[in-house]
Amino acid sequence: MDTKLITEENIFEAAHIIKNGGLVAIPTETVYGLAADALNGNAVAKIFKAKGRPMDNPLIVHISDINDIYKLISDFPEKAKILAEKFWPGALTMVLPKSDIIPLEVSAGLETVAIRFPSHPIARRLIKESGCPLAAPSANLSGSPSPTTAQHVINDMFGRINAILDGGACEVGLESTVISMTSNPPRLLRPGGVTLEEMENVIGHIDVDNAVLNKLEDNQTVASPGMKYKHYAPKAKVILIKGSTENYINFVNSKTENGTAALCYDEDIEFIKIKSISYGSIKDYSSQAHNLFNALREIDNDNIKIVYARCPDKKGMALAVYNRIIRAAGFEVLDID
Ligand code: TXA
Ligand code: MG
Repeated sequence: MDTKLITEENIFEAAHIIKNGGLVAIPTETVYGLAADALNGNAVAKIFKAKGRPMDNPLIVHISDINDIYKLISDFPEKAKILAEKFWPGALTMVLPKSDIIPLEVSAGLETVAIRFPSHPIARRLIKESGCPLAAPSANLSGSPSPTTAQHVINDMFGRINAILDGGACEVGLESTVISMTSNPPRLLRPGGVTLEEMENVIGHIDVDNAVLNKLEDNQTVASPGMKYKHYAPKAKVILIKGSTENYINFVNSKTENGTAALCYDEDIEFIKIKSISYGSIKDYSSQAHNLFNALREIDNDNIKIVYARCPDKKGMALAVYNRIIRAAGFEVLDID
């Protein structure tokens, strides 16, 4: 298939493809999404094929106006309204009871639908011009790190989709927060661009799903199907290293075999003697979120075989960074203190 590269001036071409049941990769403030008309089950089915995504993993439906939500859901609980008011448009996805117009392909057979109102102006414009909500997972091949630039999308998806709408680099750099509003208290399914602390400030206690921090056993049922798959992994083997700065630096400096690298903080770089790639500043969680996926993709470009990654914190935005990196590492953690 020919994949057309489109810029914002020609956004009408992207809308035309969507209206005709095609696939367009789009920029959002979190990561690039692979979009189709959310109300067209045949179009949505093509997303799964292009990504190699398991059919039991439901998709997020993106809207460009809060009033568009009512036809997509069958109940809008009070706490969900409060979160919408506070964090939309933005990096928050809410799981809500679905209405009958949601195709089976979107909800993957669940009784719920995940809804997000993105803040990115190009995403919002495309939704408006297409005249329909957009179903969009991250625009990567299933299993690899989510794309945060149009070039990442080209690397994964060229020849597999109709078009890529280039909107530059994504600001947040990792995916939206996913929270289920079908229980009280609500349940955090995936940490992301809006932090747990920020949400608890406005709606009180939120349960954190076991899959956010822990590995699921094969027979465990999951609230969010996406959590059970291997994710965000470069081809290189990643091992998460837990320990003080000093111990980490000594540890990686002892690993001098070829093809070994350190995935560390900016501040570590000058002390590390082996190949090193930073995923942001030790103090600045947003910078870590912004850089992580790019750093994971760089590892593959550099033909690295084994990566010792510094373990992030677990609070604020760093919880999302930890959640992604622990999956990239297949939950392999080494405590060196
Ligand atoms: O930032 C984002 O959320 C990006 C941009 C494109 O919006 N999208 C994204 O989609 O990350 P995806 O498909 O890569 O991740 C969506 C996650 C998956 O883990 C999926 O299982 C979960 O949300 N999910 C979707 N619908 C759900 C539902 N009805 N119930 C529970 N989890 C759901
Ligand atoms: Mg994804």
